[in-house]
Amino acid sequence: MQNDWFKDWFSSEEYNLVYSHRNDNDARKLLQLILNNTRLNKSNLILDAPCGAGRHLNYLNFLGFNVVGFDLSKPFLIQAKNNAFNNGLNPLLFRADIRHVCFKKKFDAVLNLFTSFGYFDSDEENFSFPRNAYSFLKKDGFFVLDYLNKNYITQNLIPLSVRKVNIYSVEEKREIKDNRVTKTIKISDSIRSKEFYESVKLYSKDFILERFLSFGYSVHRLFGDYNGNVYNENNSERLIIIFKK
Ligand SMILES: C[S@@+](CC[C@H](N)C(=O)[O-])C[C@H]1O[C@@H](n2cnc3c(N)ncnc32)[C@H](O)[C@@H]1O
Repeated sequence: MQNDWFKDWFSSEEYNLVYSHRNDNDARKLLQLILNNTRLNKSNLILDAPCGAGRHLNYLNFLGFNVVGFDLSKPFLIQAKNNAFNNGLNPLLFRADIRHVCFKKKFDAVLNLFTSFGYFDSDEENFSFPRNAYSFLKKDGFFVLDYLNKNYITQNLIPLSVRKVNIYSVEEKREIKDNRVTKTIKISDSIRSKEFYESVKLYSKDFILERFLSFGYSVHRLFGDYNGNVYNENNSERLIIIFKK
């Protein structure tokens, strides 16, 4: 496994080509589900961790929430800042590694969205952020985990897909190995070809629940997709859990 795959891939110009569907509309849909199922109000402080290019963070700020976001990727943070500036927004943004970040502030909600979980080798590292976040959440605060659904991914894996995006050919090879879903992404035009790699550890709902409950969280809501459908272990595309402190 390429341990630090996330440093290259999320700092590449090509990421936005491959994930262009993960856009503002996609972000708003998930936020609507979260806001409809929590009692967050405009005076609340929300942490987006990691925030990527700020699609959730900036929309929350636009709605009137106080927001803080961090990410490891400098290019994403620059995009987030530029988008905020162009829209007259003012989120607090900084660079940090999710494994080591800590806060004096207390938040009303901490968001970990769009499979920003399971990147590291050990369970210890993967669960360090939710464990630490418990201490910087206010009482009755929410931790939202939007993660893939292990069974669905395993049963519906598409081993190879090739598509054209603008002038580029995007080839994605997927594999499940050592309890991780991995993807090799090859992006080529007529002159050059570049390769990137993704690797996410596959955790079942029960394993995640057991860990989070041991940190002190309780389950507030559980969904299987951004439309708010009930979670089904085999058929749901996502595992979305709203935990409560
Ligand atoms: C799939 S993206 C999701 C970003 C954002 N939540 C969204 O939905 O647009 C995962 C993000 O995790 C960030 N990331 C990866 N490893 C990280 C680390 N060790 N510390 C902080 N952020 C990290 C990446 O830079 C990337 O922005």
